[in-house]
Amino acid sequence: MKTEVLQFDLQGWDARRQHQLERVAGALKEGQLVAFPTETVYGLGANANLDASVQSIYTVKGRPQDNPLIVHLSDLDQLETVAMDIPTLAYDLYEHFAPGPLTLILKRRPEIPSRVSAGLETVAVRFPAHPIARLLIQEAHIPVVAPSANLSGKPSPTRAWHVLEDMNGRIPFILDGGPCKIGVESTVLDTTGEDLVVLRPGALSPDQLSKVCQKPVYLPDSRPKTCSEKNESGDARIEVPRAPGMKYRHYAPQARVIILPTNREGWNELIESTEAGGEPPAKRGYYISQEAGVSLTSEGRIREEDQVIAYCDGAVGASEGLFDAFRQFDDQGITFIFVEAQPETGAGLAFMNRLTKAAANEKKPLA
Ligand code: TXA
Ligand code: MG
Repeated sequence: MKTEVLQFDLQGWDARRQHQLERVAGALKEGQLVAFPTETVYGLGANANLDASVQSIYTVKGRPQDNPLIVHLSDLDQLETVAMDIPTLAYDLYEHFAPGPLTLILKRRPEIPSRVSAGLETVAVRFPAHPIARLLIQEAHIPVVAPSANLSGKPSPTRAWHVLEDMNGRIPFILDGGPCKIGVESTVLDTTGEDLVVLRPGALSPDQLSKVCQKPVYLPDSRPKTCSEKNESGDARIEVPRAPGMKYRHYAPQARVIILPTNREGWNELIESTEAGGEPPAKRGYYISQEAGVSLTSEGRIREEDQVIAYCDGAVGASEGLFDAFRQFDDQGITFIFVEAQPETGAGLAFMNRLTKAAANEKKPLA
């Protein structure tokens, strides 16, 4: 299959662009797969109403069948066509954060193919903010399932070339809308249990959500166990429903990822530990703040052959470029990627969640 990459710049929108949009939206509606930009990461879209089209997402990505998909909508009146028994707080959250990087887990309407939710009775719903995503969904006039547009296990794509790298020859269309602003996937909030639980941290923090819901919002590990969750011997049962996708190895580049702690303790030892003449010889990449770049350079730590990608703006800036840095370093044959940690609050929660998963890759033990 030939993959067409279409530049979808909103500036200079003309009849030709409109015609392209209509062609692509028509193909999506008929069951073809279309990759498109969102404000978080690029999505791989399919018509949520067509079971075969939903199945092709799993096949093309190599995605485990038990990992449910997020339904993307453009307008609030679509919500009741995919979900039911919607709690008031879902509408409050919509008022404050939609369109934006928030996914809500709600009860699924039976009309939505159960394959969308990998057989669960719930459904994940999100209203993406990116204008191209919105235009596409509006034009197709359907609910659109869209996982991140990467092959399963690879870092999520935040640039159109990342999508092409994984999907060339596998899907007919990639809409290129430039780099994704946020760079990590949406916050997933489960509203179907007794408590509100963030199943996947994203740009919107539990504190921000909690203020609007006027209820505590927990991360899976921070939630106190209630009596009903204790077994007969009084121990807490671990039964908080989690996003099934979070159990899989994710976000992993080929290179070994090493985290440099925020307090800068032990950086030298970590860097030196990769110096011993391994085979192939270590090629190092650094994904660090500009300040850290300046100090490592002045200490003579960064060698001429090392690759450095430096960001500014703390965890927000770090999130935007993380997956791009992984792919750039992989393409350059880097063997060790050093990434500076960020404090685990606000945007730092999502950044550290993705980074820790990438570093948990145990393919290549340290020499
Ligand atoms: O930012 C995003 O959310 C991106 C863009 C494209 O919108 N999409 C995305 O989709 O990250 P995906 O498929 O890569 O991740 C969806 C996550 C997985 O961890 C999945 O297990 C969880 O959401 N999920 C989906 N439906 C669920 C459900 N019914 N219950 C619990 N978790 C669910
Ligand atoms: Mg994904």
